[in-house]
Amino acid sequence: MQAESRIGWAVEMVAPQPSDWLLEIGCGHGVAVTGVSEKLVDGRIVAIDRSATMIAAAKQRNVSYVAAGRAVLETVELAQADFGDARFDAVFAIRVGVFARGDPSRELAVLARVLKPEGRFFLFHDEPAGNVDDISGRIEARLADSRWSVESVRTRRIDGIDVVCVIARPGKFENGTGGPD
Ligand SMILES: C[S@@+](CC[C@H](N)C(=O)[O-])C[C@H]1O[C@@H](n2cnc3c(N)ncnc32)[C@H](O)[C@@H]1O
Repeated sequence: MQAESRIGWAVEMVAPQPSDWLLEIGCGHGVAVTGVSEKLVDGRIVAIDRSATMIAAAKQRNVSYVAAGRAVLETVELAQADFGDARFDAVFAIRVGVFARGDPSRELAVLARVLKPEGRFFLFHDEPAGNVDDISGRIEARLADSRWSVESVRTRRIDGIDVVCVIARPGKFENGTGGPD
């Protein structure tokens, strides 16, 4: 199934550890929530989506993980979200348009507050007629505008479509650039 392999690669890249706290933005039907929850022991995934319909579907798909407290699913738009004292080892988003096509400055400000210092943001994106340099260039420009640093960019061709993964963290690297030496 197309979504399974695209999202399977995303889960592989995020590489959840058993005790990690993870945050997913725009979880849709909750396919990645399932893949991540399978790898957690005493960790947790918080997944949000601005669509109540999507969160209802994600809850249904992950009913046992929600009951166990391993997955927490909430209807909220990222820019309005309040995660309290929670701090995350990794945040990820898959095909969430604001990061590639909009102005994500408010969203990135929220993520900068909730990532642990060693935490990373994994941003996956693909477009039907998209070219990886164009997609990653647009994402990197938006991250730079909010003073995020890009650590690496990976791509994988899945079901005939190039998927981009940009791994980033808030703040500039010590060399003053948007990338490591
Ligand atoms: C194209 S779907 C992708 C769903 C899933 N991540 C996937 O790859 O199959 C984008 C999802 O992100 C949600 N979304 C978009 N912008 C959002 C935002 N600012 N905050 C929370 N959810 C958002 C949408 O409601 C939608 O469910």
